[in-house]
Amino acid sequence: MNNPLLSYQYCTVKVASQFPEQAMLTIEAAPAASDPTQGPTGEAGEVMLVREGSERRLAVSLGKPEKINPETLRQAGSSVVRWLAKNQVEQARMAMAGLIKLAGIDGAAAFIEGACLGAFRFNRYKKPKDQPAVSPALYLAAGEQAAALAQKASEIETICAATNLARDWAHEPANVINPVSLAERVQQLFEGSPVSVTVIDDRQLAEMKAGAILAVGQGSRTPARLIILSYPGQGRRTGEAPVVLVGKTITFDSGGYSLKSVEGIVGMKYDKGGGMAVIAALQAAASLQLSHPLVGVIAAAENMISDKSYRPDDILTTLSGKTVEIVSTDAEGRLVLADALTYAQKEFHPKALIDLATLTGGAIVALGYVRAPILSNNDALTQALTSASEATHERLWRLPLDEEYSKLLQGDDGDIKNSGGREASTIQGGVFLKEFIEESTPWAHLDIAGMAMVPKEMPYSPKGATGFGVRLLVRYLQSLE
Ligand code: BES
Ligand code: MN
Ligand code: ZN
Repeated sequence: MNNPLLSYQYCTVKVASQFPEQAMLTIEAAPAASDPTQGPTGEAGEVMLVREGSERRLAVSLGKPEKINPETLRQAGSSVVRWLAKNQVEQARMAMAGLIKLAGIDGAAAFIEGACLGAFRFNRYKKPKDQPAVSPALYLAAGEQAAALAQKASEIETICAATNLARDWAHEPANVINPVSLAERVQQLFEGSPVSVTVIDDRQLAEMKAGAILAVGQGSRTPARLIILSYPGQGRRTGEAPVVLVGKTITFDSGGYSLKSVEGIVGMKYDKGGGMAVIAALQAAASLQLSHPLVGVIAAAENMISDKSYRPDDILTTLSGKTVEIVSTDAEGRLVLADALTYAQKEFHPKALIDLATLTGGAIVALGYVRAPILSNNDALTQALTSASEATHERLWRLPLDEEYSKLLQGDDGDIKNSGGREASTIQGGVFLKEFIEESTPWAHLDIAGMAMVPKEMPYSPKGATGFGVRLLVRYLQSLE
């Protein structure tokens, strides 16, 4: 990979039938044994270095044999590469036959997935303190199964590289990524790929009368952009209805005149996580040559304070023609999404419309850092996304969209208002967006406020941006093949 936009640190995985010649650290994975002399006894992911003469082996526990599952295997893969990176080990090798026998090719694949995700670091702006940062390479010998595993591993590497791209870009601060610089970055990223990029700038948005996304961006010196990514699908006839993914991409959310608190504003560079997941999903879909046509809509704006900013009490006319009365300039995500969703339906008549957004703090209140709320007008789409999410362990949980909740957003002087107070705030986000969805459009909204950005390191994700949604979207798209 020579693309400078992909130059972040993570682990590489090479599968072969045998190891290359060099002497390296050897890794063994084994279920926890009840007898300490017989092997590891710890939790899944616990590692132990064993020295025998000049030989060094790293033993990693897969946890209790009856509890081994794809998630414990991801965690084990991650702990291994984290240990390697921390201990400056550049190369290590691991015989996979035992793991494949124990957990199958899919289990081995989960281990590799954890390895590819676990070593990600965002260290572009950090001087290496005492030692240089290392991106470990894992050599896996899979014997007879090498071909099957190598094929899987390359697919996993593609998807995890995309996830790591989403993490990397989400981590970039707002003085580096803003709506304008993001549009340029996206154009560069997809140069020479089957994904075409169209950037709709603020002048064109004004002509279109996309008054909501424009208002959110108008307080910033870098105004709003609607970025359209279009992947025709490998070998498909044109004209087939695409799946459309829409991403909230607030490059910084100050709250605007409804200013956030000193504590609440920190981390708001991550408010672009939905958009980064969409960009990454398009990248993975194109690299995997998926057959289904796919469109990404990136609704990018920076929510800032200036004499040009929008205010509470402003009444905006959205692209749909509906008017929105502003109660809080901090409920900006739903505004950029309203125009993006309208545009997506008018332009593409999607077969399924899925938006990802770090929309409400209420998502964290409701489900913490374990699951993301999904709100939808369509049971089949909810089911398909939920089962993809269980497979990748980016778990979702459905919240309702009952009529009664819509009353909270009835406007005084406009058609609707953008916030109706504290109660059921995640659902309010959903019912607001639903106002812009045609009845015939299967639509789902994923509120990833909790899952896209985490306050502490997770088993195979760094503190900060997790890349949540990328693997789940790719899995969903693969299920349509
Ligand atoms: N970007 C925030 C939501 C958020 C909060 C994400 C914390 C991650 C962590 C969003 O724009 C926002 O400010 N939402 C408000 C909505 C309210 C004003 C109706 C919220 O959730 O408080
Ligand atoms: Mn906000
Ligand atoms: Zn926001």
